Amino acid sequence: MTAWPIALDRLAYGGDYNPEQWPETTWREDVRLMREAGVNLVSVGVFSWALLEPEPGRFDFGWLDRVLDLLHEGGVRVDLATATASPPPWFSRAHPDSLPVTFDGRTLWPGGRQAYCPSSPAYRAAAARLVEQLATRYAGHPALAMWHANNEYGCHVARCYCDVSAAAFRDWLRRRHRDLDALNEAWGTAFWSQHYSRWDEINPPRQAPNFINPTQQLDFARFSSDELLACFRAEREILRRLTPDVPVTTNFMTPAFKPLDYFRWAPEQDVISTDHYLRPAEGDPNLDLALSGDLTRGLAGGAPWLLMEHSTSAVNWQERNLAKRPGQMRRNSLAHVARGSDGALFFQWRASRRGAEKFHSGMVPHAGEDSRMWREVVALGRDLERLAPVRGSRVVAEVAMLWDYESWWAVELDSHPSADVTYLDRVRAFHAALWRAGVTVDVVHPEHEWSGYQLVLVPSLYLVSDATAEALERYVRMGGHAVVSYFSGIVDPDDAIRLGGYPGAFRELLGVRVEEFRPLAAGETVELDDGSVASVWTEDLRLDGARAVMSHLDGRPAVTRHEYGDGVAWYAATRLDPAPLLERVCAEAGVEPVLPGLPAGVEAVRRRGADGDFVFVLNHTAGAVAVPGEDLLGGDGTVPAGGVAVMRG
Ligand code: GAL
Repeated sequence: MTAWPIALDRLAYGGDYNPEQWPETTWREDVRLMREAGVNLVSVGVFSWALLEPEPGRFDFGWLDRVLDLLHEGGVRVDLATATASPPPWFSRAHPDSLPVTFDGRTLWPGGRQAYCPSSPAYRAAAARLVEQLATRYAGHPALAMWHANNEYGCHVARCYCDVSAAAFRDWLRRRHRDLDALNEAWGTAFWSQHYSRWDEINPPRQAPNFINPTQQLDFARFSSDELLACFRAEREILRRLTPDVPVTTNFMTPAFKPLDYFRWAPEQDVISTDHYLRPAEGDPNLDLALSGDLTRGLAGGAPWLLMEHSTSAVNWQERNLAKRPGQMRRNSLAHVARGSDGALFFQWRASRRGAEKFHSGMVPHAGEDSRMWREVVALGRDLERLAPVRGSRVVAEVAMLWDYESWWAVELDSHPSADVTYLDRVRAFHAALWRAGVTVDVVHPEHEWSGYQLVLVPSLYLVSDATAEALERYVRMGGHAVVSYFSGIVDPDDAIRLGGYPGAFRELLGVRVEEFRPLAAGETVELDDGSVASVWTEDLRLDGARAVMSHLDGRPAVTRHEYGDGVAWYAATRLDPAPLLERVCAEAGVEPVLPGLPAGVEAVRRRGADGDFVFVLNHTAGAVAVPGEDLLGGDGTVPAGGVAVMRG
């Protein structure tokens, strides 16, 4: 992956542009407005396969030629989509076996979008043909800045259970396990009469009478992520062959999208990009946004990344689609930039008039230019111009949080001690506690390099490889500080229990030994000896070198501290508010907030460039806050309620 290959001289600003939904007379108007707003990058053609190839093998690029030429004349660069995210109706009709099939055997029909099986040879061949045509035609077009492969891979169909997928799954299993003996061992098929004697006895984990083999489920999750990655790679290879100098990306969906192992996808991208939408019904959206940025930056290896989509205001796909308040779009956009995005793009440029997304906000709203939205869009363009010096700088963080998609898949499998143990629960709790403390967290994969951080958080790392267990032990022994949450270090990559007492992978490091889990009933809480309350999970934990720093009222340790080598390993064996614990750990580890003394609800993130630092201050509160210094956004040392400042410093 190259550092930042998009040829722009400032931060990227723009969005998905779907001119095919509008008459050509509107296109000139669009380009005029884009110039007015300072838009310099738009994603074109994301869902235009049916118009680009109206019949099999007959391509119509005339309209796209005109769009690209107009954009070029207007000085707007193009992130050109390969348009493969939604095959046209003729394709599905000609290839009914390309339609995806669900876990319980239902076919998903066209009529929405993305109705294809990722393993379908017909889909892959048709997609490759389209990409070849597009890349051949637009190689060398001066507007072309980047390729946008497909769109949000797996957004609607991440796993397909059809017979074509079953055959592909078997091929994948052969590559992973080599022979049936190894597969039988890895899957533990001695259990429940599941032993396989022939490869063609193996199927995707389709709806069964009861719990399906967990390792079969886990391998199917791995396979499904790899299968879509193979679709991406196939497109990228064509694009690299025909346009070697044009970077290729596909937009991820961080942080809550579970089906794709983005840490396997990330090294395959030239630019890491992601989409993020607020979900106010699911908790504080500022926390989710920050987690998205921190994870995406981790996927980019700490380098700048690109916010490919967010919304100017309401979306259309939630139960209740809340409009953003004045100033919120700006604050959201700059919060992404604070966490490493070198731009802010939206879905979409002009709000649609027809179709399922007609109530989704856009940069140009239905109301037109005479609207608060448009004025805010133009003002944001000015802000992003002022922030041009930020481009290429990198976020500074002293804390790492380990994130592993395989562990996510595995910890949420069925037939576990408690359905209330979910992956993102502890991930979000740890991250939120540090967000509130003003401490920036880098999200990293367990097998990447994180030994240089002052503190490492290990939430819900249920599945852990020997290499990761050893790396964590080495890190602490050499003087690091680590905090591990319950139900971590339990199984190996085949989902087999690590024996000898829980948590098998981390027993020695944590200095504890657990003979039995004691999960709580739904809604049950227990008091701890400091007066706080815990829920979901407790353990019969025996100290084996560690010291209890918090206990249940019956004396069982709930939080432990273990001095190990030159460092300290903490264990939170119950579901508690981690803020007080993390405050103490940060103090011991010497971790400081970005700007000490900020009021609650004011977020600060530091980016470091070759010529100095930029401190983003995002005021989510209803009161002004004083932050002296030179503000790139032209502020006077006070960040008003809901405002943002970017200080040189
Ligand atoms: C994304 C998608 C866009 C648009 C948007 C609406 O998932 O990539 O095409 O549908 O959501 O919020």
